[in-house]
Amino acid sequence: MSDKLIIFDTTLRDGEQSPGASMTRDEKLRIARQLERLKVDVIEAGFAASSNGDFEAIKAIAHAIKDSTVCSLSRANDRDITLAADAVQGANRARIHTFIATSPVHMEKKLRMTPEQVLEQAKQAVRFARNRVADIEFSAEDAYRSEEDFLCRVIEAVIKEGATTINVPDTVGYAIPELYGNFIKRLRERVPNSDQAIWSVHCHNDLGMAVANSLAGVKIGGARQVECTINGLGERAGNCSLEEVVMAVRTRRDYFDLDVGIDTTQILAASRMVSQTTGFVVQPNKAIVGANAFAHASGIHQDGMMKARDTYEIMRAEDVGWTANKIVLGKLSGRNAFKQRLAELGVLMESEVDVNLTFAKFKELADRKSEIFDEDILALVSEENVAQSHDQFGFVSLSQHSETGEMPQATVVMTIGGKEVTATANGNGPVDASLKAIEANVKSGAEMVLYSVNAISGSTESQGEVTVRLQSNGRIVNGVGADPDIVVASAKAYLSALNKLQSQAERVAAQG
Ligand code: KIV
Ligand code: ZN
Repeated sequence: MSDKLIIFDTTLRDGEQSPGASMTRDEKLRIARQLERLKVDVIEAGFAASSNGDFEAIKAIAHAIKDSTVCSLSRANDRDITLAADAVQGANRARIHTFIATSPVHMEKKLRMTPEQVLEQAKQAVRFARNRVADIEFSAEDAYRSEEDFLCRVIEAVIKEGATTINVPDTVGYAIPELYGNFIKRLRERVPNSDQAIWSVHCHNDLGMAVANSLAGVKIGGARQVECTINGLGERAGNCSLEEVVMAVRTRRDYFDLDVGIDTTQILAASRMVSQTTGFVVQPNKAIVGANAFAHASGIHQDGMMKARDTYEIMRAEDVGWTANKIVLGKLSGRNAFKQRLAELGVLMESEVDVNLTFAKFKELADRKSEIFDEDILALVSEENVAQSHDQFGFVSLSQHSETGEMPQATVVMTIGGKEVTATANGNGPVDASLKAIEANVKSGAEMVLYSVNAISGSTESQGEVTVRLQSNGRIVNGVGADPDIVVASAKAYLSALNKLQSQAERVAAQG
């Protein structure tokens, strides 16, 4: 009989730590609902002590999610653990994930603690957490660079205190698959009570090996939980990608002999939702969810595919949610059909006013674009969300003129705190001119560190989706905007980023 591999998704916590990927409560809730449809076993919803916003988001997720376990991260201290416990209280299944660093460099230079102090704090944290919640995960941060004897002592002690899952992170992405797999194996062999906990892997992708390392931790080491994120989102080079690890275990069941409970047909929808919400675009050649992942372009491949699919195809595109772009709604669709489609896409709007507002935007879009796809609706909803929760700056209208040999000029009408203002500017292109006009009104002084345009549904009739990343006073935010006119999409993305810069509260770094 094969074992079950637990899929622990940390898109909303470790993924969100990626600069610019921070999400609002409503955005997190929408993604959590999609993760539940995907049937992930555990949703790490955030880090309750990092900000009031994150605390509220975890609380909302704990109440909304019925099937998956809802988890909050916490450092190994009473205050963090209390906040984590309060945030997940009320969940059908609740988990506290507490961590402390165990590597010499982290203990000496970051924590300024001796190994004995770290050991005591780890025990005390698990004991304290156990009073509130039965399901306790303990992570030894930077475990892979920790001294093995010491790590074994810490793990044995926290299992004695009641930790039910032991996570062994490769925090800095330094591991090599075979070495990491054997490391987990040795730890499990050396810790006397290792059989009383589930072992978990958590790998970062700095050397591009997060998925390979996680799989080695499972196959060689015997870990039965993998921590991962949608699209591999995460700080620096990201985390282990959920879709890759799940499809590897599914496709090579002959080798892994493990069950995963994931509904793989929901993978693509989750990928698109995360990318549209955070503005982190998926590269076209990304495995499983990239636009080219199932495109067999070369003549030899196409010929083979026409003769028999399995000549070149190891997975079926439909199994991970790829279908031919479906036209879902049009100009004549009514409010009820629209509301139903929103529900099918997992978008639950809290008030009828919100539904009406989004429906009005949908009608405007349908007047300009004959075919409306799911991606268009999701883009509309993201925009609506941004507009509701960060409303300092609003888009009203834009006109621009560009002609070969002439300096482009744009006039933008926008609102600042509800008051309408207009500005005109020149630029080296219509986008540049429009953003300069906005900046003339806002005077943010923010530096643009990324600008990218993506066609939402492939053809030139598609909406353009623009991501703008701004940096100001050490903070980085992403803004996303969509419109059939890419200049307007750019202006919306820029305004959305400015709104985030205005409202983003200071957060405590999980690994600072
Ligand atoms: O990478 C890491 O070590 C972490 C821990 C907090 C689990 O994210
Ligand atoms: Zn991590």
